[in-house]
Amino acid sequence: MHAFDAVVIGAGAAGLFCAGVAGRLGVKVLLLDHGEKVAEKIRISGGGRCNFTNRDLDPRAPQRHFLGENPHFCRSALSRYTAADFVALVQRHGIPFHEKHKGQLFGDRSSEDFIRMLLDECEAGGVQRWQPCRVSALRARGDGSAPLYEIETDRGTVRTPRVVIATGGLSIPKIGASDFGYRMAQQFGLRVVPPRPALVPLTFGGDDWAPYAQLAGLSLPVRIATTGAGTKGPAAAFDEDLLFTHRGLSGPAVLQISSYWQPGEALRIDLAAGTGLAQALRDAKARSRKRLANELAAFVPARLADAWVQRAPAWQRPVNEVPDKALDALAQALARWELLPSGTEGYRKAEVTAGGIDTRELSSKTMESSKQPGLHFIGEVVDVTGWLGGYNFQWAWSSGWACAQALAGL
Ligand code: FDA
Repeated sequence: MHAFDAVVIGAGAAGLFCAGVAGRLGVKVLLLDHGEKVAEKIRISGGGRCNFTNRDLDPRAPQRHFLGENPHFCRSALSRYTAADFVALVQRHGIPFHEKHKGQLFGDRSSEDFIRMLLDECEAGGVQRWQPCRVSALRARGDGSAPLYEIETDRGTVRTPRVVIATGGLSIPKIGASDFGYRMAQQFGLRVVPPRPALVPLTFGGDDWAPYAQLAGLSLPVRIATTGAGTKGPAAAFDEDLLFTHRGLSGPAVLQISSYWQPGEALRIDLAAGTGLAQALRDAKARSRKRLANELAAFVPARLADAWVQRAPAWQRPVNEVPDKALDALAQALARWELLPSGTEGYRKAEVTAGGIDTRELSSKTMESSKQPGLHFIGEVVDVTGWLGGYNFQWAWSSGWACAQALAGL
């Protein structure tokens, strides 16, 4: 029988960070993971460069960039351990980084720098890591108010008063995602908000999509918004790049809106955002005899202009022959393109899993279950989902830090 002050299950972003912080605070920590390799998701994140946090995260209203049934839950942890705190750690480790767009901070070299940093912190904290190590059962014994946990693993049984579940969500099953966290929550009677893929490309039904499939590979800046039609989901809008794919739409605009999209809801896309298209086309009519598609190509990519004018015979004429009404209709159609996704690309392609352990079951200060003392949940397994752009890693760091303070009795 092995004994530890705390056992962290899952050596991903949240688990590694929490274990290192707690270890440095004097807690005797065991970190377990069933994967062959440590922190695979950090390795593939940000295109291999790890978008590790976001400077736009507002410490006074951090919840603005997060979703969940209980949107204010994340506020406490995010304001106690901020993006600036993590940046200071990265700087202490001498890791070079840069800002891309919208406050997104990326490593200059490789995600490996961040994995090394987290492993070094664990080592400095005397954390023991068993990996790969499979957990077959987790049981609570003894006193209900201060239970002792027994964890059955393929390296023996471990006893501890504190268990931290940091096993993440369901996205990218081929690198070790599992439903372990949700199963444990259910075993101990905690509610789980149904998980769903988020930050995920959207798909569109066969024939309806056929005219746009030829645009695969095309990217352009748009404004994208939920319409709320037939759903109770929160309203959202993003100004970002859209990417046409063979099966549907992707790119940052769609990944962002996908986290808010509810099945059955139409989305609205402004394909010529900020161009003043209606007036510009009327001006073109006064001075040009070119095909309308050629004039339109000054405002949207030429391939899109060509495909778009196919939708109405009036739009296939020289611009000076197109009636004003038809020009206005074209501008309107591009500015208010409404379309109904048929689904998402699923967990295979989703960057994160929305939903998870209901935050009403947890303390926002310690991440501990109120029903089951000594059992904590951190990171993506919790019903807190960040926007694209480093917000999800910041949640992993902040929730891990808050939990580590509690493990150390602070
Ligand atoms: P994480 O998934 O990191 O770790 C969970 C760990 O638990 C894994 O090591 C897994 O092996 C282990 N585990 C699972 N089941 C287990 C079991 N039964 N027993 C033992 N161990 C188990 N975010 C961001 O902010 N910036 C970015 O650049 C990116 N980029 C990005 C790219 C791609 C392709 C993806 C898929 C995701 C991102 N993300 C991101 C999201 C980010 O990776 C994610 O939110 C965090 O890794 C979540 O951290 P966790 O520690 O909660 O889970």
